Amino acid sequence: MHPFQELIEKFNQDFDTLHFPSQPATLYEPSEYFLKIGGKRIRPVLCLLGNELFSDLHPDAFLAAKAVELFHNFSLVHDDMMDEASLRRGQPTVHTKYDANTALLVGDIMVIRAYEYLQPIQSNHLSKILGLFNQTAREVCEGQQLDMDYAKKATVTIDEYIHMITLKTSVLLAASLEMGAIIGGAGEHNCKHLYEFGKKLGIAFQIQDDYLDAFGDASLFGKEAGGDIKQNKKTFLLIRALEMANAEQLITLNALLASDPADKVDQVLTIFKDCKVDAWAEDLKQKYMQEALAHLESIAVVSARKKPLIDLANYLMNRIQ
Ligand code: IPE
Ligand code: IPE
Ligand code: MG
Ligand code: MG
Ligand code: MG
Repeated sequence: MHPFQELIEKFNQDFDTLHFPSQPATLYEPSEYFLKIGGKRIRPVLCLLGNELFSDLHPDAFLAAKAVELFHNFSLVHDDMMDEASLRRGQPTVHTKYDANTALLVGDIMVIRAYEYLQPIQSNHLSKILGLFNQTAREVCEGQQLDMDYAKKATVTIDEYIHMITLKTSVLLAASLEMGAIIGGAGEHNCKHLYEFGKKLGIAFQIQDDYLDAFGDASLFGKEAGGDIKQNKKTFLLIRALEMANAEQLITLNALLASDPADKVDQVLTIFKDCKVDAWAEDLKQKYMQEALAHLESIAVVSARKKPLIDLANYLMNRIQ
């Protein structure tokens, strides 16, 4: 068993050996660029932790880990186009550094490479792994579509928001854990609870992401400050502010949603703060974290084995990047 920080190092050593062909350089150089500008590597580490919960680290867990990280990077490259984001991991996004057509293909090539890593996984696990990976990939696309649809919709409920972030974000964290567990030989009961742990953790993770997009230090977060506000994203911050606003704030907020003044981010942030949505964010995050931990409790392995996962969950809840 390893602390999660050691697994990040182990994964990065392995991932650093990933190279694309040299030609066409116009496709592969931007692909390498994106993979090498960093990232926390949460999903591959979840896969390795899921594996170590039930067995010694298996080489197939590293294949699955690379596949989930590649899939995640694909989703980021396309997400940045959809969200018109200029910065990622503190660096220019692929479609701004290169162009939109390049970013489309960079994303595509990463998904294809992900499947190439899954292909050699031991045949007794492959069908389950592929089924889970495919279901997850489909759900991420569905969640991303709902995210775009909701940005144009006047009212979105908290339940709709939770459903949307479950699909776009949390199922990939959940699946990463379960893929590792399947390779580790875990049974159905344990796989189910580990998946649910990942799902609840993923919801709390996206709540923190939405919080940081508004209230974080952009130079540490590595993304443009207030990107979600500029795009009218229906984050829980906005949904809650629309619920809590007094008549005057509501008029201002609705006017801001219908326009793009230069100080839109500052004005919306002021209303967020006045409506105390940041304190509410903390409560919501804690609620999902507790639900996640309850599922971890139900997994039938000695509690000492669960410690690295609990440490990672705590790190994610308090992250600033
Ligand atoms: C960003 O994920 C996308 C979300 C689902 C919020 P991460 O915060 O894990 O991004 P990197 O890989 O560390 O850059
Ligand atoms: C991203 O949600 C989810 C996926 C990439 C699938 P966000 O749009 O909030 O992610 P960031 O903030 O750009 O990383
Ligand atoms: Mg985005
Ligand atoms: Mg997005
Ligand atoms: Mg975000």
